[in-house]
Amino acid sequence: MSSSLKELFSEELKSANDVESINILRVKYLGRKGLITESLKSLASLSLNERPKAGKALNELKVFIEETLRDKELLFSQKVLESRLSRESLDITVCGKYIASGKTHPINQVLSEIIDIFEVMGFEVEEGPEVETDYYNFEALNIPKDHPARDMQDTFYISDDIVLRTQTSPVQIRTMEKNRPPLRFISPGKVYRCDSDVSHTPMFHQVEGLMVDTNINFGHLKGVIETFLKEFFGQKVGIRFRPSFFPFTEPSVEVDISCIICESKGCRICKETGWLEVLGAGMVHPKVFENVSYDSTIYTGFAFGMGVERLTMLKYSINDIRLFFENDLRFLRQF
Ligand code: DAH
Repeated sequence: MSSSLKELFSEELKSANDVESINILRVKYLGRKGLITESLKSLASLSLNERPKAGKALNELKVFIEETLRDKELLFSQKVLESRLSRESLDITVCGKYIASGKTHPINQVLSEIIDIFEVMGFEVEEGPEVETDYYNFEALNIPKDHPARDMQDTFYISDDIVLRTQTSPVQIRTMEKNRPPLRFISPGKVYRCDSDVSHTPMFHQVEGLMVDTNINFGHLKGVIETFLKEFFGQKVGIRFRPSFFPFTEPSVEVDISCIICESKGCRICKETGWLEVLGAGMVHPKVFENVSYDSTIYTGFAFGMGVERLTMLKYSINDIRLFFENDLRFLRQF
């Protein structure tokens, strides 16, 4: 009985060539209803004389089948592993795949840089709406309806009373209305003017600044502006303050830096003067304080405003403001 079983097993083993077929054989011979198991049960029908010999032979065959199947299984699973290893081997010398990643727009990079510089000097960041009322954009800043200063700013009107803000200065008013002095903040954001050429776009960015407290004087204004410009353009930059006019400051100044394009020798960009205008500033006009119910006999302050595109163009020698908004990746990738 066991010798014919052994022959059958050996025959079937020849065509088993993977782990799967080994498992099938294991069930067929060693399973609960397998051939070996059934044969062992049928030993009971043999005579007492025959039983020990047949039992011994069957048990030996059982051990033989178990070991053979275990060896074969090990062999096949090793082969599977080897072929996977050779197929899936990792070549760590192959170059990585390039994953295109986005970048911060140069204007936003410069905005972050400006904010960082002012934050070190203790300035907070305030924001205001881009769709603004005539009152906040003009009136409260001491620019009444028929004031000629309105002509300086080509306003987009939404209605008689609503405009796209032409400057970030209205944030001065909104922030002073909500807070009492001392105040020290900047306000970065988008502004809009109906204008378009190599140095003007209908939308651009400004950073406003305001500091109010008792005993704030022009020296504080000068110190803060000079510190900022030297941090931004480099310690060697020349700086000069020129008298100017803004309705919301008195006295008012415009601030120039030495031309960084020609190193003050005179070029087209600085119109042969060696100087470049970079921002407007001044001591807050008492009328503005009156509009937000601050007592101008107790409090004084200074304000300033600058164009971010202009600062960026000067810093990186860019000659056309429209490049910032054309989304040409060849331009943007340089920053
Ligand atoms: N708002 C002015 C403009 O858009 C810039 C400016 C000048 C802001 C002087 C100020 C300032 O706060 O004091 O031209």
